[in-house]
Amino acid sequence: MHKQALESIARALVPEGKGILAADESDRTIKRRFESIHLEPTEDNRRVYREMLFTTPGIEAFISGVILYEETLLQTAGDGTPFPELLSQVGMIPGIKADTGLVDLAGFPGEQVTEGLDGLRGRLIRYRDLGARFGKWRAVTTIGEGIPTRAGMDANAHALARYAALCQEAGLVPIVEPEVLMEGDHTIAQCEAATEATLSRVYSELFEHRVLLEGTLLKASMVLPGARCPQQVGVDEVAEATVRCLRRTVPAAVPGIVFLSGGQSPEQSTEHLNAMNALGDHPWELSFSYGRALQDPARNVWKGKAENAPEAQRVFYHRARCNSAARYGRYSQEMEAVAA
Ligand code: 13P
Repeated sequence: MHKQALESIARALVPEGKGILAADESDRTIKRRFESIHLEPTEDNRRVYREMLFTTPGIEAFISGVILYEETLLQTAGDGTPFPELLSQVGMIPGIKADTGLVDLAGFPGEQVTEGLDGLRGRLIRYRDLGARFGKWRAVTTIGEGIPTRAGMDANAHALARYAALCQEAGLVPIVEPEVLMEGDHTIAQCEAATEATLSRVYSELFEHRVLLEGTLLKASMVLPGARCPQQVGVDEVAEATVRCLRRTVPAAVPGIVFLSGGQSPEQSTEHLNAMNALGDHPWELSFSYGRALQDPARNVWKGKAENAPEAQRVFYHRARCNSAARYGRYSQEMEAVAA
């Protein structure tokens, strides 16, 4: 069994001061991101963009691992080095998005389930041979009129557990991502209840499927009011509600919880992570696995132009550094001012 190997990979993804870069946007998602900078979503533009991020000088001081999309796992940098090798050379662990996306759940309007289990065992072996050491599977819970339902949450928790067990069989650490979406006008209390229900089912299924918790990570959403909720709340309230919810549901055997940003601004994402770590000792590492919150400012500077790459890398480095400080609860507004 690869028990020890799984545990050490999981721990290596959440060391002090480091977190994960999520760069695993599907073709559809990256197309949307490139539209905002008026850039064609060609395979080469995606490659050049990701190479710009991965080769940011010194970024490995703050980034432990990178989640890749399958296309990127197979691509090479300009000098011919395969991306997984390029990352490993500087000590960043390559990972892979293992799910194939969301579909509507039949019979449950407004709810979605994640696909990708068919043929997953073979794909995971191939990903591992290509250098991936961990996987990610994203399920979503939507809050709305009469949802989430028990059946919707069960379907997603079951798929997450089957994915996690297959990952461990293949020697990959599963990042289990049950995201509670921010869209909607729900209150923070509704988000907390939905997150608690979602996570309880996820951990019950992981147990049933004999998943080794020490060799997993949780990718969680923060407990927040919906983006259209009139009652927005302060940083401390988000931090307290999120930590309370996680303490109730996530076993201490899980080495780390890495947050997604989910549509929060880059600064908010950093502030919230910082406030949670400032609350003191927790049973698990509290870290980040941001996509938009790490990439958006850099991409907006880059705009697809080679001459902007050094400045874009500086902006990316700055965000990663701020989030690294937030891992210790040492982030402050002054850090933003210094970089400006
Ligand atoms: P965001 O931080 O942009 O939410 O992305 C994280 C992610 O990987 C979602 O699956």
